[in-house]
Amino acid sequence: MSEKRELRVEKIKDGTVIDHITAGTALAVLRILGITGREGFIVSVLMNVPSGKLGKKDIVKVEGRELAPEEVDRIALVAPNATINIIRNFEVARKERVKPPSMITGVLKCPNVACITNSREPIKPTFHVEGEGENLRLRCYYCGTIMSREEFLKQF
Ligand code: CTP
Ligand code: ZN
Repeated sequence: MSEKRELRVEKIKDGTVIDHITAGTALAVLRILGITGREGFIVSVLMNVPSGKLGKKDIVKVEGRELAPEEVDRIALVAPNATINIIRNFEVARKERVKPPSMITGVLKCPNVACITNSREPIKPTFHVEGEGENLRLRCYYCGTIMSREEFLKQF
């Protein structure tokens, strides 16, 4: 091949790189973070790129905005191996693994139609986070219904 191989997305100057996202879940990650693209930041999304560690992975780069790891931990629900890299002046200033929260409130709906969180009561759906990695599951705080990763991924 005469063509030179190029980087898919160039390095960023300032912002956040979420790396090692489970392949195919980058859009779910953006939804969990509430990033729509209308905020005006430059956002690069790479899906199913080759990765030594995982075979394939997704990457999200948000320029001009530092996402606090605490703010980002919810993405551990869909991307348990993700790393958060805070970039300052082209250097990785901080790198952290995401940690799943022990509870999650107000983001997902309970699949049990009879659950009190699906009635007119002003009760926010709340789930205990159980298990880890690909076996992570959510248990409704109110009715005990279990949602597998496959099930709650569909809600994002
Ligand atoms: N990155 C970027 N812009 C920068 C610096 C880094 O977009 N100015 C990206 C890299 O492309 C990589 C991620 O941020 O996807 C982490 O960078 P780095 O720590 O340099 O890469 P690795 O050592 O490969 O990371 P890890 O050990 O977490 O696999
Ligand atoms: Zn419930």
